[in-house]
Amino acid sequence: MPVPLLDLTRQHAPLEDAFKAAFERVLRSNRFVLGPDVAELEREMAAYCDCGYGIGVSSGTDALLVAMMALGIGPGDEVLCPAFTFFGTAGSIARLGAVPVWVDVLPDTYNLDLADALDKVSERTRAIMPVHLFGQAAEMECVQAFARRFGIEIIEDVAQAVGATYDGRKVGGFGAFGALSFYPTKNLGGFGDGGMLVTNDPELAEKAIRLRNHGMNPKYYHSLVGGNFRLDSLQAALLRVKLPYLDEYHAARRRHAEAYNTGLERHAGVSRTRVIPQADPVWNQYTLRIHGGRREAFREQLAEKGIGTEIYYPLGLQDQECFEGIGIGGETLTVTPMLAEEVVSLPCFPEMTDGEREEVLKAVWDFGYA
Ligand SMILES: Cc1ncc(COP(=O)(O)O)c(C=O)c1O
Repeated sequence: MPVPLLDLTRQHAPLEDAFKAAFERVLRSNRFVLGPDVAELEREMAAYCDCGYGIGVSSGTDALLVAMMALGIGPGDEVLCPAFTFFGTAGSIARLGAVPVWVDVLPDTYNLDLADALDKVSERTRAIMPVHLFGQAAEMECVQAFARRFGIEIIEDVAQAVGATYDGRKVGGFGAFGALSFYPTKNLGGFGDGGMLVTNDPELAEKAIRLRNHGMNPKYYHSLVGGNFRLDSLQAALLRVKLPYLDEYHAARRRHAEAYNTGLERHAGVSRTRVIPQADPVWNQYTLRIHGGRREAFREQLAEKGIGTEIYYPLGLQDQECFEGIGIGGETLTVTPMLAEEVVSLPCFPEMTDGEREEVLKAVWDFGYA
């Protein structure tokens, strides 16, 4: 039985009538940029993340960018950033002329290694950017202690982890800003690009609201150089249809991830993600490490059975061509290059059937030790 890595049709089909109604409402409103649906989604997402404010923006990457602009991060400032993450995390730092400082990650949670951050923090460091990779919260208590000690800001990259908790608290509100993405493959995926900032700080919220709209307030008076980082009304209206189901989606992802974890407990050829005791992950990805240089053979064997897999991420950011001469700290990394060679993500989407999941498990075992 083939099993896709992700099948959005299954998620969207039962909601088609509601999507069409939302579309028609926006069509008739003639409000296509920001507007009431964006304002409502901001309220709903802020409440969902237990934060005071939500600011809708054009993507998760732009959320990170606007967060740093609001904090005044710019040329020469250093930002501690995991080297093992999606490009957007670090691209936003470099676009502001700031310096991404590559911090290694832990080999079993894939999240920031604060011991490495301790070696790399300097008097130029302005912020640390924990990424809650694959849906599991980073060690936020330690990140907060670290940030307090060095007097730096925390910007959480929540792109893959909306709804995940650390010590029972939703991620996104542990620092100055949390940056969410509504890219279609995310746990709350939209119909194109979109993102949101969440924060508890009213002044930062106000600044981010201005920055996303050319630094403008009042109309045609620009106190800051911002940009066009606005969220579309249609996007917000469609996302509002899906938001009430988000916890159900999370629960289904958890059920699949837990079944994979149990099913692979005794498999010596793969390593599962370690879930830290404080975290309740939302499993945007279910990621394994395949040892012994056998990842490509593993993927090929699953592909022959029609099982989709993906590699997040095949190259650490420290080795990306565009960061040559820009990022620093890459030469000491050991875990990131190893993960880039070993990680593979399996299908783990809410609508996957138990039968499909068992098929994937069987395929992983069939690969076995051959
Ligand atoms: C960890 C991480 N950070 C940032 C982003 C950027 O989000 P977007 O694609 O909405 O710009 C993504 C997703 O693509 C991501 O996975």
